[in-house]
Amino acid sequence: MAASNTSLICVNDYEKAAKGVMKEAAWAYFSAAADEETTFNECPAAYKRYYLIPRILRPIEERTLSTTVLGETISFPVCISPTAYHKFAHPEGEKATSKAAKSCDTLMILSSISTTRLEDVAEVAPGGLRWMQSYMFQDKQLFEILVRRAEASGYKAMVLTVDDPREGKRYKTIPYGYVGIYEADGMGMANFDVDIEAVRKAKVTGDKNLTRYGYEQTNSYATWNYVKWAKTITNLPIVVKGVISPASAREAVEAGVHGILVSVHGGRQLDGLPPPIEMLQRIVKIAKPAGIEVYIDGGVRTGTDVLKAIALGAKAVFVGRPVLWGLALKGQQGVQDVLEIYRDEFDRAMSLTGCKTIKDIDSTLVLHKSNLHTAKL
Ligand code: FNR
Repeated sequence: MAASNTSLICVNDYEKAAKGVMKEAAWAYFSAAADEETTFNECPAAYKRYYLIPRILRPIEERTLSTTVLGETISFPVCISPTAYHKFAHPEGEKATSKAAKSCDTLMILSSISTTRLEDVAEVAPGGLRWMQSYMFQDKQLFEILVRRAEASGYKAMVLTVDDPREGKRYKTIPYGYVGIYEADGMGMANFDVDIEAVRKAKVTGDKNLTRYGYEQTNSYATWNYVKWAKTITNLPIVVKGVISPASAREAVEAGVHGILVSVHGGRQLDGLPPPIEMLQRIVKIAKPAGIEVYIDGGVRTGTDVLKAIALGAKAVFVGRPVLWGLALKGQQGVQDVLEIYRDEFDRAMSLTGCKTIKDIDSTLVLHKSNLHTAKL
């Protein structure tokens, strides 16, 4: 386990180490966030505004970390957020991530703009739990093809990213050119190589155009009607990713989604949003009575962060950049090491707060700093 490596003791250690081994353009792409990066910086910081109020002397000797997401069991509630372009981090790309997720017995969401075809990601880790992310492509035919392929390859849900009608302004990537980054080193958007008229046209002058086509497809001015339509074309559960406002959560409930991933896209889209952990409880209050699971990502860096999110109502947390850091450093093994740090720290956090199972983790265990002197305990 990575904890035995004295320079890689916690998840944040992986960030510094990964920066040292990655190419400049790739690092710019992975680390970038929107505008002044205020939301990006707030995401991890916000977790520290919650204190833990533990219970002591509880029978915690035998603990179980496992839980379920949309009815499927995972060994602990830390899953992998969809992030694009894993081959920027490591030549084995998404295949390494997929094997690591399976090996740690947790869920991976594959980005639709992956550098490996979704079929190949599934094939290298048989039996692994995977959901397929998609943008609401301008071309609905493209979306439907992706859904059919995800179904055929055993993906268990479709995750629709709803906070990306167009890309946030990321200062760090601008010097490299948006599409230029995507085209670097001949890597392409592997999932877009499908046999439809628009793609055939895009390919006329080579793969670079295909990537440009794929990139343009991700920016669409879709509405809730798209989500409702997606529901009509598949039996897979629909999860919407990128909900931060309670009003949007209400609309998601009305649209009949099965899950809500409270997320600000790692601070890469709209700067000035509140950090997800600060909005979680309000969204849970709206979604849970309707039987809708709520997840969270953005700035989760320690086992105590995980525990706080679960205590405030998340069914599971997701992590984005930390997976890329592990991948950049040591491929599959690096991703596993990062996930095992989360597992170990979360288990420790459960022990130290008096929790034997996930069900024991409730809102009485956390207190926002602003309530410290007024809350009834
Ligand atoms: C992302 N994210 C993202 N989200 C999505 O729905 N589809 C995608 O293709 C990507 N691609 C992507 C690339 C990179 C390099 C990053 C950093 C992020 C957002 C991602 O799923 C997630 O919401 C955040 O990364 C979570 O925040 P942390 O864990 O990185 O702090």
